[in-house]
This record gives sequence, C-alpha cells and structure tokens, in this order.
Amino acid sequence: MKFLLSQPNLDHDEFKEIKKIYNRQWLINGPVVKKFENNFKNKFNYKNATTVSSCTAGLELVLKSLDLKPKSEIIISSFNFISSGLVTLQQNLKPVFIDLKKNSFDICLDSLKKKINKNTGAIIVTHFNGYLQPINPIKKILKKYPKIKLIEDAAHVLGATDENKTYVGQKSYAAVFSFGPTKMITSAGMGGMVVSREKKLISNINELKSYGMSKSSYDRKKNAKSWVYEIKKLGNNYRMTEIQAAVGITQLKKLNYFINKRNILIKEYEKFLKNIKKINFQYSNFTTNRSVIYFVIILKNQLVRDSLAEYLREKNVGISVHWDPPLSNHYLFKKFSKKSDITNSILLAKKLITLPLHTKMTTKDVKQICKVIKNFFHEQN
Ligand SMILES: Cc1ncc(COP(=O)(O)O)c(C=O)c1O
Repeated sequence: MKFLLSQPNLDHDEFKEIKKIYNRQWLINGPVVKKFENNFKNKFNYKNATTVSSCTAGLELVLKSLDLKPKSEIIISSFNFISSGLVTLQQNLKPVFIDLKKNSFDICLDSLKKKINKNTGAIIVTHFNGYLQPINPIKKILKKYPKIKLIEDAAHVLGATDENKTYVGQKSYAAVFSFGPTKMITSAGMGGMVVSREKKLISNINELKSYGMSKSSYDRKKNAKSWVYEIKKLGNNYRMTEIQAAVGITQLKKLNYFINKRNILIKEYEKFLKNIKKINFQYSNFTTNRSVIYFVIILKNQLVRDSLAEYLREKNVGISVHWDPPLSNHYLFKKFSKKSDITNSILLAKKLITLPLHTKMTTKDVKQICKVIKNFFHEQN
C-alpha cells in the first residue's frame, strides 16, 4: 500500500527508554508504570488514574466494580466499537442500544431518555474519533437518577476538551483510554488507562487487575513478609508492563505534537476536498479542542461509499470504515435492539470511509490522496 491508513510513531526516544528497562529487576506494574500513571494524572488534572492492559480490560473492570444486579441494563450507543458491548455481556448485564441524532455522530438524547428505567445500572458513552459526545446535557438528564453511573469510552479522544474547555473524563464516574497502535499515543501497541474522581474505584481496579491480590507484588516488595497478600476479589491479570509504560511516558510528552500534526493534515484534506459537494466532514458542537485519530468522510450513500472504497484500494490508498455495520447489528447483539430504534446509526454507517491519517504523513501525501478522490468523482460524472 502506497499510503498507509494508520501508523504508530515510535522513534529513538522510545527505544532509549525501552533499553533502560532491560537492566531493571522489575518488568510488570512497577515504578515506571507508577510514573506513567502520575504523569498522566498531572497532565490532565485527573484525581486518580490507573493503567490497565487495554481499554477493553479497563471498561470491564469499571463495570465489574459497580457490582450491579445480574441483567441490569447498560445503555450504550449502537454506533460503537465492540468493547462496551462485550464487557456488558461478559458481566452478565444487558446491553440497551441507543441511536445517533440524524446525520450526526452525537448520540440522540431523546433516544437516551426513552431507554432509562429502574433497571438501568450505567451508561457507557463512546466518544468518536476526536470529538466529544454531549456529556453536559447527558449529566443534566442523569440528575434525576443519581444511581446511574456515567462511564466514558475515551479510546478516541485523549487530550480533547469539551465546550467548557474541560478535559474529557473529568465529569463522569470513570473514563477509559486506549493506547493501541492506531490511537493518539501508543504504549508499544497495547495498553489503557482508567481515570476517576472516585479513589475507591481506582483502588478496587488496582486489586482486580492484579489477580484480585490485596496488594501488588511491587507494593509488597519492602514488607518483611513480602509474600503475604489476601485474595477477596475475583480478579484477573490486566497489568501494564514496564516497557509499555516507558513507551507511554515518552509518547505522552509528544501528545501536543501528535494532535497538532494531525490537525494540519486534516485542514489540508478539508482544503482540497471542500469543493466536492458529495463529501461531508465530521463535526461536533461539544468539543473545543478536538483530538482526531482517523480522517473520516461522509459520502452521499452506500453506493458511492463502496465504489470510492474500491477505487482507493486499487490506487493503493489504505482505507477502512469506522464502523459499518453498527455494533447493534452484529450477530452477538442483534437480539438486543430493534432496527427501527437505530435507523440513524444504520444510515450513517453506510456512508462512511476512513482515509489515511497519521503523524508520519506529509501534506504532499494528503494532496496526492485528494487528487485520487477528485479523479474518482470526475470519472463518475
Ligand atoms: C471506541 C473504542 N473503544 C475501545 C477500543 C478498544 O481498545 P483496546 O484495544 O485498548 O482494548 C477501541 C479500539 O479501537 C475503540 O475504537
């Protein structure tokens, strides 16, 4: 492929930090992991933060910590990645899907209001591709239901701020970030972070991610009886390694550069594509500083989307679709939603294409990709 859809940006800075770990005694959930958690917390002013092995693992542990009654309902967006749906089913809870607003990536607040009932345990709001969902309006709706927890899947929005310039994750019960390879920063391919105002939630996750041990092995190291711990919780092994954390710390220092570089490329894309009336761009009213990881365009219909996708592939331009079909239309989730409840998500999903966007691209690359897209529309006319 001449133009890659996505590419992580790891260089000598990260490699230097990885090499330092080689000479250390500790490889998992040790001092470097603690430093990453502290740096992350301080950079965005979060009260508490803990690393996990992935965003999916983090969402699972947040949900598990709620200790909800079996079959409690978890409201999630139909237009979604699999993680929130998966962890809901794994915890023996029931996913309840809500739609998007028409021609928008924002969740539909009326759809949300309709789905809240006495069985609702939590809402997991998935932010999409650098732009924030309407957290303040959602919080307003939830005021009447203090028991319902608001959780954010913040995999796509590291460093984004809302309409009041507040960093994502400061207003909810918990937010979970991903450091996977296509995300704004990566902790060597895999990793996640849970942030919350609730100290108790974070200490519970600290135990759950270390098999359920009352104290991690690193924290017990200095104890006279360092082998002593209790197991009271059904945990798992969702810890981050020291190498992942070392890479995460280095990448976090480059976050502003990564966001700005992508913004420059997006502006270039928009400059070249804005005259094509058949293309629309992602937009949101609830974001001051966006943190966009993919460049998503919205076409007129599925026919145009599929033909353009095929054309770009033939011309060696890496593309994908985030996401089609909506999560609620996948086999595992079909029985939990009615098509008529999620029509906007179904319609939007069919019109999307994700174009190459990463920090190793140049504006010249963007220009060449746009030329291919313009040629496609010329040939169509
Ligand atoms: C919105 C969203 N949430 C969660 C995830 C899962 O992240 P992880 O791979 O860190 O579990 C992804 C992965 O791409 C995602 O797009």
